[in-house]
This record gives sequence, structure tokens and C-alpha cells, in this order.
Amino acid sequence: MDVIVEIPALRERLKEEHPARQIAFVPTMGALHEGHRACVDVASRVDNASVVVSIFVNPTQFGPDEDLERYPRDLGRDLEFCEAWGCDVVFTPSAVAMYPRVQRTWVDVTGITDCLCGRTRPGHFRGVTTVVSKLFNIVSPDVAVFGQKDAQQALVIREMVRALDMPVELRLARIEREDDGLAMSSRNARLSPHDRRRAGHLRASLLQAARVLEDGERESRAVEAATRMHLERHETGEVDYVELRTASDLSTLGRVEGKVILAVAVIVGNTRLIDNMVFDVGADRVAADVDLF
Ligand code: PAF
Repeated sequence: MDVIVEIPALRERLKEEHPARQIAFVPTMGALHEGHRACVDVASRVDNASVVVSIFVNPTQFGPDEDLERYPRDLGRDLEFCEAWGCDVVFTPSAVAMYPRVQRTWVDVTGITDCLCGRTRPGHFRGVTTVVSKLFNIVSPDVAVFGQKDAQQALVIREMVRALDMPVELRLARIEREDDGLAMSSRNARLSPHDRRRAGHLRASLLQAARVLEDGERESRAVEAATRMHLERHETGEVDYVELRTASDLSTLGRVEGKVILAVAVIVGNTRLIDNMVFDVGADRVAADVDLF
């Protein structure tokens, strides 16, 4: 496994791959866990591909009051994981290499970035789409893999790829979970034992919503209310949002039908956690935990 820090060195190394091999790319911010492993597994299944992982805590996607400094970092451990998971190349650029000048050029997807996490974290998705565009330009991947846990991010990146005709195929890895259902996240490490127990209720609230839909409820407000009630009853934390939206473009809905996403964000202790469940809802059937795309 090659570990490469500089952009020109990475480009040189990846020239050896194309066109004989494809490049399957997994962008990450490090603090790797089973969720990232699932992404690497999806990348490893791409035909005749070299798996490239980037590890870069991207400052432009953090707001001024957010947790950039506190974001967990352990490069040595991350590299051990990448080696064990069979990655071919790991790219670990510095912030100066990625942003050598004042950044005046941004990639900004509008509309679907205004709701959910975009509402509470203004500028976050502009930072994500800008860094992902830069990484795509540096790595030139044939396939890029993202996690379904960050469902809004995945939809925003799909919109960017379509709108800008980027020659990359997007694939998603399903959400990996702890035994109590808590979605794997780099931020889970920050939870106190008490908050860690409370955090299990994010998944439980989504399962509660699944039961309500299975019982025949089709009014989105009622399903959202049942989900929120579960979170509040179990004192999970400060609920940021509980929203049902279309899975295609995050439009709001009155009646629940077709492919929809129930997304939740809760601040547990000092840590903001997100989770979601994608449903395919018909008049008399409900499939839960389906693929976003
Ligand atoms: O999902 C993440 O870890 C980040 O948002 C990403 C896609 C690596 C961009 O910094």
C-alpha cells in the first residue's frame, strides 16, 4: 500500500493505473471505522480496480463554531486499517496542499442543500462539494463510494456529478451499526457512557416510524411526530430535525408514498448525531431500510 502526501506524486502514481485498471475512490476524513470499511468493500468489488482512499479533515466544511479542532484524528491507526482492508493507495494531503491560496472558487449545489443539515450548518455542503470536486480532479476516479448514513451528502454529490457532467460513477455503502443500532460514526467516540446509551434511541426512533408506517399511517406529519415522540420520551438529546422527504431530491411531502427518507439529527450531550431510514412505501406495503440509490 502506498501512502502519498503530495498531489503531483499521487497523480504520477495513478498514471500507472489508467487505462489498464479502474480507480475506485473512497474519500474520508479519517477516524476510520466499520462504516468506512463497508465503503472500501464496495470499492473492492469494482472490476479490475485499484482502491484509493483519501484521508483529509476538510476545514471548509466546518462552520466557525463547529468541531474542526476536536475532530478525531489518528493517522497511524487509519493507515493500519487501510492496509488490513486491502487498499492500494492512501492519499493524506495537508490543508496547505489542498488550499494553498485563499479559496475564491467554490462548487455550490443549491436547493437540496438548504434543508436538513444544510439549514443548521450553513456553508457545510459548499465545503463538501468543493473538496470532493478537488479530490475528483486529483484522483480521476472511475467509481467513487460514499456512505448512505450521510444521505443528504450523497444526494448533493449526485446532483453535482450530474450537473457538472463529472465522469464518475457513484456507489453507496449501506449503514453499518453497533449492536444497539447506533450508526457507526467517527463522532461516536466522543460520547460519554451515559450519552452513548441515549444515542441508541436514534435507531429505535426510526424503527418506531417503520412500525407506524406498517400500521398504515401515511401522513408524513404523523410519522414524524411519532419518531420525535420516541426521541423525546427517551430523553435522547436536543432534536435538531426529524423529517420525511422524497429520496430523489429531498422535497417535502404530505402523503408518504414511493421512495422516501426519514432523516433525524439529534445533539446528544455535545455531539451532533445523524441517522436515517429509507422506505419504499406502497398503498399496503412498506419496505424499510432500502437503498437510497
Ligand atoms: O463524508 C465525509 O467524510 C466528508 O464529508 C467527505 C466526503 C470526505 C468530504 O470531506
